[in-house]
Amino acid sequence: MATAASSFQKGSGNDRFNAEALNWDKNPLVHEASKQALKAISARFPALKPSSETTGLNVLEIGCGTGLLSFITAPLVKQVVAIDAAPGMIEVLKEKLKKQDAPSNVLPVAVLLEDPEDPSLPPANAADPNGPRLKFDLITSHLVLHHVPDLKGLLTTMLGCLKHGGSVALTDFEDYGPEAKSFHPQAKLAGVERHGIHAKTMAALLKEVGFSNVRVERAWSVDKTVESFEGEFENGRPQPGQGVTRNFPFVICMGEQKHNG
Ligand SMILES: C[S@@+](CC[C@H](N)C(=O)[O-])C[C@H]1O[C@@H](n2cnc3c(N)ncnc32)[C@H](O)[C@@H]1O
Repeated sequence: MATAASSFQKGSGNDRFNAEALNWDKNPLVHEASKQALKAISARFPALKPSSETTGLNVLEIGCGTGLLSFITAPLVKQVVAIDAAPGMIEVLKEKLKKQDAPSNVLPVAVLLEDPEDPSLPPANAADPNGPRLKFDLITSHLVLHHVPDLKGLLTTMLGCLKHGGSVALTDFEDYGPEAKSFHPQAKLAGVERHGIHAKTMAALLKEVGFSNVRVERAWSVDKTVESFEGEFENGRPQPGQGVTRNFPFVICMGEQKHNG
């Protein structure tokens, strides 16, 4: 039976990101957004600090795309397991990781994660490759939640991927009211499930799923040129003189795994 998550993989969302993968890094806005996300995460998780590959946090990034956040997170952690449902995005990340100055502690995986024991995740113990899967100190996910049809299902999977005391730090634009809809031009609405993250709704969902110490905080904001009427930007990009500038707040959604076992 197709789940809500697997419908993303087969549907327009995945097609869109496979198609956009080769040009993703050409947009300066996505680089800046990842830098802001890391700044917001680091400010709240002081354990993110220059690390070696034997110390530091084990991080899982869900919806890593071409690895923009994974690359800048890597020097601050032990390892980043960088997963994305769109194989096209992971192919671009793999090519970037072949370059000489690329971090050596980013592990790219193409998977739509629905099970914390998915065999595509690394094993907890390298000597037991088919045994239980690695549990993480921190899960990040940037600009992904608004694409996920079944948020409760994904948050439940995330909870199952954390070690005891581990946390999620999920960043996305905020659903602050009807104007949040203009974040995406009409040409890029494929795979958009909601127009940002509604802070109170998200906090309630994190608690319902079983996270402790839940906090959803406004962390930064970004000026973006958006359509002044639906469909104004052909191919989703403004031409000179088109659009209006609007300021979009971003939230960081946090919660901890405090259950035993
Ligand atoms: C807007 S892009 C952001 C990519 C990257 N985080 C960045 O900021 O450059 C959203 C990404 O999330 C991925 N995605 C959406 N839902 C997903 C899911 N349930 N599991 C894994 N990846 C997912 C898409 O394939 C896409 O690459």
